[in-house]
Amino acid sequence: MACKTTTSTLSWLLLFSLAFTLHVRHSASQTDRKVYIVYMGERQGDEDTTSSLHTSMLQEVIGSSAGPESLLYSYKRSFSGFAAKLTEQEAQQVAGMDGVVSVFPSENKKLHTTRSWDFLGFPQQVKRRRTVESNIIVGVLDSGIWPESDSFNDKGFGPPPSKWKGACQTSANFTCNNKIIGAQYYKREGLIGKEEIRSPRDVSGHGTHTASTAAGNLVSEASLRGYGLGTARGGVPSARIAVYKVCWGTESCSGHDILAAFDDAIADGVDIISASLGGNTPRFYFDDPISIGSFHAMRNGILTSTSAGNEGPNSGTVTSVSPWSLSVASSTIDRMFLTEVKLGNNKIYQGFSINIFDLKNQMYPIIYGGDAPNTTAGFNGSSSGNCMPYSLARNLVKGKIVLCDVPSLGSFIAGAVGSVMGGRPRHSFADDFPLPASLLDSKDAKNIRAYVRSTRNPTATILKSNERKDTSSPYICYSSSRGPNLISPTILKPDLAAPGVHILAAWPPIAPISEYEGDKRVQYSYNMQTGTSMACPHATGAAAYIKSFHPTWSPAAIMSALITTATPMSTEKEPDAEFAYGAGNINPIKAPYPGLIYDINPLDYIKFLCREGYTTKLLQIITGDINDRCSKVSNGTIFDLNYPTFALPTSPSKFIHHVFYRTVTNVGSPTSSYKAVVTAPRGLKIKVKPSVLLFKMFGQKLSFELTIKGRIEKRIASASLIWSDGKFQVRSPIIVFVP
Ligand SMILES: *[C@@H]1O[C@H](CO)[C@@H](O)[C@H](O)[C@H]1NC(C)=O
Ligand SMILES: *[C@@H]1O[C@H](CO)[C@@H](O)[C@H](O)[C@H]1NC(C)=O
Ligand SMILES: *[C@@H]1O[C@H](CO)[C@@H](O)[C@H](O)[C@H]1NC(C)=O
Ligand SMILES: *[C@@H]1O[C@H](CO)[C@@H](O)[C@H](O)[C@H]1NC(C)=O
Repeated sequence: MACKTTTSTLSWLLLFSLAFTLHVRHSASQTDRKVYIVYMGERQGDEDTTSSLHTSMLQEVIGSSAGPESLLYSYKRSFSGFAAKLTEQEAQQVAGMDGVVSVFPSENKKLHTTRSWDFLGFPQQVKRRRTVESNIIVGVLDSGIWPESDSFNDKGFGPPPSKWKGACQTSANFTCNNKIIGAQYYKREGLIGKEEIRSPRDVSGHGTHTASTAAGNLVSEASLRGYGLGTARGGVPSARIAVYKVCWGTESCSGHDILAAFDDAIADGVDIISASLGGNTPRFYFDDPISIGSFHAMRNGILTSTSAGNEGPNSGTVTSVSPWSLSVASSTIDRMFLTEVKLGNNKIYQGFSINIFDLKNQMYPIIYGGDAPNTTAGFNGSSSGNCMPYSLARNLVKGKIVLCDVPSLGSFIAGAVGSVMGGRPRHSFADDFPLPASLLDSKDAKNIRAYVRSTRNPTATILKSNERKDTSSPYICYSSSRGPNLISPTILKPDLAAPGVHILAAWPPIAPISEYEGDKRVQYSYNMQTGTSMACPHATGAAAYIKSFHPTWSPAAIMSALITTATPMSTEKEPDAEFAYGAGNINPIKAPYPGLIYDINPLDYIKFLCREGYTTKLLQIITGDINDRCSKVSNGTIFDLNYPTFALPTSPSKFIHHVFYRTVTNVGSPTSSYKAVVTAPRGLKIKVKPSVLLFKMFGQKLSFELTIKGRIEKRIASASLIWSDGKFQVRSPIIVFVP
């Protein structure tokens, strides 16, 4: 399913197209074999031995008839595993073989600008280490890239950093340059859409947009037809981009392609990976290609930044949940779009949308969808008011504006002039519809309906949008996925928020600017998009910026710096509190100077996995180290991973008494004294021991205990710990919750 579809549409609206796509695809391939991913942990021998091991394992289950076409991928550059077409029985047989960690069906993932950096207080003239920055390679797993965009011009760039070992697939006129230093595409199963191109070239827009947000050049006077006008720029404009195209047009991104991209990106020498994509439900760590890939990336010192997902506001919807990757929620910037609807009685209603169409103030007849059912399709007056696709009669809506109870595309499909829709959820964003449209509160839509019913010839027009300052920003976008983390409730996810609403960034001129099928508006070089897909590359850019100041920091250290320097957000605007925004909104200018970091080394994650119930045998395969034994780590608990946030699941009104253990590393002033400042809601007592940490040198580590006592009456209780030395404020959110 389309990344595009998910990023900027109200998700329920899309379910329709999802069901449709899947349905068509399944009936097309009647086979009992499907693609399975076989994950085998750290690579044991060299690449050749590893791939012949994969071939022989496959032969053992499907016989020597196993042609090369049965083996879709042999993962052997950065870890070991393969993807193959197997029956369920064959998959089970492989699962029982030596050295296999997990076998799981390759699920399809989906893809989940420029004021945003200024809004974060990260100006164009920010202090930079340009030479170091230009050696940073940002790997982007997405729908490809449009290399001719101004955002990727390589003027002033030297040759690729010498550590770069990647490749550029030059097909269909695609060429790399000194900005885009590598590009590959992945497609080993299924068809590509007719609009797609077999090359790393992006024809849908998503990948071009995310790559330019993370690391695009400065491009002045960028806008979508005047909207969002400003200088478009990435977080690290001097960095290089390596493209891994795993998502195809309006189709989805296959798990086995994603894992192949991780295998390559790690071996190619990227410094950071940005993956604005995810599944529908969270999966166990080693049954998920993004989690597996980012685990091996972490072991190689590479942070993976991922989008939380666009399945909010329901709880437990965050799908990027592993403690070794960053999970990013989507927050608003101070940009909003209001679209006025004027009625024949001169009343004006204010709706939300990005309406770049100009009806030139001309009045058109307006009809309620409920008065225009497509009876051929079995719709009647009570079922067509929602204007679902194909529910309206073309002859009744032609030349008219259609009033609908909820946001929907039926008016566009039926050929209406415009659409006025009710049912706008609170904190939803302005969507860009393929026809003149405005999305209103249900109350306003009801009033318009009363007007339509009250007169013989009701008329209306929809004005071009007004761009306004949203003074209540930042808050979390309605559709941003929420915690808790259903896989490890003790690890708070999402980790933090970043701008992901109405983001202007680069766009391929051949891609329509909305994801709605049938949108013919092309030839735009910059476009506005919304979703956690847009938030993720902001965090990627901020992480790369930190790395330019601290090239040796571990992925966990970079995560800690981003998390503890984030700007807290308000529970008043957001009842889901930390489950919506994690530690708060990223603050890229502060992030390289966190004062203290909560570091985690690869072995700490292994201890965490032992405590989560993974066996010694499995972990030895995953790490390739026979010394990794769960028995050695039995004294701690799952709460003791040195994570920079604290999450404690409990049950209602149960008395809590819990101790967290953490260790901080001094990266601020060599000698310093940090005092613990705790805020806690009524009912909770939080104590820190020792309450003062005295550092005598740079790099020194000191440990402390954080004890929580009391009970909570609400579903979520938010507290915080700040270590402060007067100069640095190291803030960790603490959340006690009922799962
Ligand atoms: C490559 O570019 C040429 C010239 O612009 C064009 O005619 C041709 O169709 C392009 N080929 C592909 C595969 O896009
Ligand atoms: C309209 O259609 C719906 C759904 O098919 C049906 O349940 C309902 O009874 C119909 N209403 C009328 C008034 O025919
Ligand atoms: C009305 O329904 C018919 C039958 O399902 C369908 O073919 C047609 O496209 C629909 N009309 C519109 C305008 O959606
Ligand atoms: C577990 O044991 C190690 C080694 O004895 C010790 O350093 C660590 O503090 C202990 N952890 C806890 C949570 O007690």
